[in-house]
Amino acid sequence: MKILVIGSGGREHALAWKLTASPQVQMVYVAPGNAGVALNKDLQVLPITNVVALREWAQSNDIGLTVVGPEAPLAAGVVDEFRAHGLRIFGPTKAAAQLESSKAFSKAFMKRHHIPTAAYEVFEDAQAAHDYVNKQGAPIVVKADGLAAGKGVVVATTLQEAHEAIDHMLAPDHTGIQHAGGKARVVIEEFLDGEEASFMVVAHGQVAVPLATSQDHKRLNDGDKGPNTGGMGAYSPAPVVTPEIHARVMREVIQPTLKGMESDGIPYTGFLYAGLMIGALGQLKVLEFNCRMGDPETQPILIRLKSDLLALLLAATEPEPTQLAQMELTWDRRVALGVVMAASGYPGTVRKGDVIHGLKADKPHAMVFHAATATQGADIVTSGGRVLCVTALGDTVRQAQAHAYELLDTIHFDGAQARRDIGHRGLKR
Ligand code: AMP
Ligand code: GLY
Repeated sequence: MKILVIGSGGREHALAWKLTASPQVQMVYVAPGNAGVALNKDLQVLPITNVVALREWAQSNDIGLTVVGPEAPLAAGVVDEFRAHGLRIFGPTKAAAQLESSKAFSKAFMKRHHIPTAAYEVFEDAQAAHDYVNKQGAPIVVKADGLAAGKGVVVATTLQEAHEAIDHMLAPDHTGIQHAGGKARVVIEEFLDGEEASFMVVAHGQVAVPLATSQDHKRLNDGDKGPNTGGMGAYSPAPVVTPEIHARVMREVIQPTLKGMESDGIPYTGFLYAGLMIGALGQLKVLEFNCRMGDPETQPILIRLKSDLLALLLAATEPEPTQLAQMELTWDRRVALGVVMAASGYPGTVRKGDVIHGLKADKPHAMVFHAATATQGADIVTSGGRVLCVTALGDTVRQAQAHAYELLDTIHFDGAQARRDIGHRGLKR
């Protein structure tokens, strides 16, 4: 079978790499892919990004399954487009993808279906938002209602920061945010204290098969300092998700979400990612939903997956979820840990074109997944914010961390930024 993976990041590199391990797979195309995809002889880059053009290409090239990596094509309706033409594709429809693409939608959804989440209010009017923040006090969290590549959230520790975030996100000429429904809105919510975890499932209708747990590191700098990013590193499994918490997440979050989507008339198929905040006393709240896998969480998760990913996704795209309901996944018992190397300037304006030195052949227990990389003559160069995710396995968090940094320290490019403490919470447990 020929497979198409849509996207160009480390997550898509990992998805495509894992899919090649399936005996049924003939070729995996990645659109548009990156230099790491181009290096792998089992993968092929496809320089198409337009949704209709992708669908036409998939039709004329006999693609058996399409897997969508990032949120933007989902929010643009790629699944609806493929399905309307009888093509098999794994991901939520445009309507279902609102769970991620609109914070106002997902907060209202959670409230309606009694899914635990932070208390909140939605504002279009800046003055009303300022008044609300003054009344609530800091710390408080301000979120843009729309896709903003992981940069639409400000955890304000002072009132001044909150006011600035409101003015910034509601500014009429703001370019970094794809406003949900074309309208500038902010969600202002209660600050939650605790430890975060990423909880992902493969969902189809009301059936969910959980993937291994993981924990991301959202802040740019060591010690969880500095601005929020798309994620600077992750490891799997996340010990904060104890077996008891795991069972509660399935019961209190995942199942009511899938049931709620179905009863609201927008049944969900695809990866479903719940970003969780777990309080010191085991309080469980959903910070956000994503309608895709996490990046960089995918890289350590998939390096641990022993089961056939294609078989899983085929089961999740059958008309009925009966086959999926019988699936159980097997995982490498070791810990996997991935560290992101980002370009100079990230998460602000990044410099591109820095030559990457020291890349070498991957080993099954140590992989360098590419994200924003491009081929330039004989060189591989940086081409965006998050450049590589250096991912390694080890018997413990400490060992996986040591292996990942050992490999990372052999790779260089000018201006590279990487945290040195990925996995620090896991080490403490
Ligand atoms: P989100 O995109 O909504 O997950 O927010 C991005 C990041 O902001 C999260 O991963 C958290 O680190 C932080 N965050 C979001 N909402 C809250 C909240 N209510 N309380 C504390 N931190 C939050
Ligand atoms: N790493 C967090 C995300 O993918 O949203």
